[in-house]
Amino acid sequence: MTAGTAGTAGEKDGVIVSVTGLAAAYRVRGEDSPALAGVDLRVDAGERLGIVGESGSGKTTLALALGGMLPRSCHLSAGRIESCGTTVRGAGGETADAAQLRALRRERIAFIAQDPAASLDPTMRIGRQFSLAMRAQGTPMTDAAIDEALAAVRIERPDEVRRLYPHQISGGMAQRVAIAMAVARRPQLLIADEPTAALDAEVRTEVLGLIVRLAEEHRITLLWVSHDIPAVRRWCTRAVVMNEGRIVEEGPVGTVLVEPEHAYTRQLVNALRAEGTEGDGR
Ligand SMILES: Nc1ncnc2c1ncn2[C@@H]1O[C@H](COP(=O)(O)OP(=O)(O)OP(=O)(O)O)[C@@H](O)[C@H]1O
Ligand SMILES: [Mg+2]
Repeated sequence: MTAGTAGTAGEKDGVIVSVTGLAAAYRVRGEDSPALAGVDLRVDAGERLGIVGESGSGKTTLALALGGMLPRSCHLSAGRIESCGTTVRGAGGETADAAQLRALRRERIAFIAQDPAASLDPTMRIGRQFSLAMRAQGTPMTDAAIDEALAAVRIERPDEVRRLYPHQISGGMAQRVAIAMAVARRPQLLIADEPTAALDAEVRTEVLGLIVRLAEEHRITLLWVSHDIPAVRRWCTRAVVMNEGRIVEEGPVGTVLVEPEHAYTRQLVNALRAEGTEGDGR
């Protein structure tokens, strides 16, 4: 059964993502292992939302669910997901069909994966994969336009980088290429799942700043999954904290990540204070 496209009502209201009562579990050796236990989430156009929480709390599962990108081993047992005007899952369990999901992922949502270098094709020069990705979406780009997109993520000599293979560039550079490709598609929603975990601190700060700047410039709503609380505080407008498959706290970053109410969030923030990293990057 197909849920269909919800039209533009959500967009008019400025609601980019609306999730209610979402429950998900992975099938592991014949047993259900819960990953989301009733998540309600709304993301408005123009927000930069940080999703934080300890490892295994369900952040990636939630992010993937928004694009209908969960692996087969994960099934949704309850809840509704509306992303960028598409009903990915209706309250009755009906789901968008493959064509609708493809359109959603091609035209409105872009993901930057945890290890963007791995998402590049090792057998193809950077410029060629960039141009194929854009052509698949129906908006081909000239080499000059690709160079401009690479320059926008502060890649020097983009015309040279365009001719290289992924193994010939550094991790930081691969990250920039992945960001450039994601942003060039002009999505409504950019989901970045810890895009910087593999980078050293200096490059990380710069890359995060770039994502935020590009998102602002092109009016892209940003949903950013991260363990880096100081960075979320610096760059995001709102934060949600997840714990054991639930959102336990949410609000403006200046409240949630500075004076948290929930014991779990306090523990996260206090751990940073104890490390002396609390003020980093502010
Ligand atoms: N492919 C999978 N198969 C089985 N269980 C999984 C799979 N992916 C995630 N899980 C489980 O689902 C729960 C939520 O995982 P998820 O990856 O969403 O957490 P996360 O918050 O993104 O963690 P991290 O910060 O480590 O990336 C965890 O208990 C995890 O072990
Ligand atoms: Mg994760």
